Amino acid sequence: MVGMSVVLSAVSRDPLQYAAWLTVRASGMVALAALTLTVWLGLASAGGLLKRRPQLRGTVGIVHEMLALAAIGALVVHGVSLLFDGWLKPSVLQVLVPFSMSHAPFWTGLGQLAGYAVLLLGPSFYLRKRIGAKRWRSIHRFTTVAFLLAVGHAIGSGTDTGSAWLLLPLLGGTAVAVVLLAIRAARANRRPAPPVRRAAPPRRSGALAP
Ligand code: HEM
Repeated sequence: MVGMSVVLSAVSRDPLQYAAWLTVRASGMVALAALTLTVWLGLASAGGLLKRRPQLRGTVGIVHEMLALAAIGALVVHGVSLLFDGWLKPSVLQVLVPFSMSHAPFWTGLGQLAGYAVLLLGPSFYLRKRIGAKRWRSIHRFTTVAFLLAVGHAIGSGTDTGSAWLLLPLLGGTAVAVVLLAIRAARANRRPAPPVRRAAPPRRSGALAP
């Protein structure tokens, strides 16, 4: 009831500010949800969990890409709507420079680092032919690090992450990602070493070539 009266008084005073405040939080949650699902699908695919269902790989690849684009879109909304937040009142420079925000600078800085990583690593997919698939794959692995930074940021600087309705799904989603990461790492360690090339036996004179 008290919460509702606070909300109503905020709306009646300045609906635009209230909308900005809501947009910052809603877009942060959408970005994190999309990022979590993207990381799940990427790790499940790279960890070989779709090996027995090759027909699913194409669909999973498309959903993975769409979710990554949705995360980038929501992240841009998150950063831009902050500029209209009448309570935090950050400058453009504070939004752009990591660890410079007056509100929870360390935790918000983690979000800014995660944001830059997501903005750079996501679109690198479209450059993989130019940079080479192997190099692209090793760069793309850092998406998981960006995701973990984003989780730290959401817990440290969010308002609603103190409530069970947001904290529990957030921790559950992170736990699933950590399990998938462990499966992926175990699979990478189990991969057989490339065969050792034997030197060809010296050819005897007069013998027929095989
Ligand atoms: C991948 C990147 C990011 C994700 C997934 C993300 C997600 C989130 C989430 C889920 C919240 C919690 C909302 C709540 O509890 O109400 C939040 C809060 C916040 N984020 Fe981000 N964020 C990201 C990047 C950024 C960046 C780049 C900035 C700054 C430029 C930023 C600034 C903030 C601030 C100031 C809050 C606190 C808002 C408030 O409680 O009023 N975030 N973010």
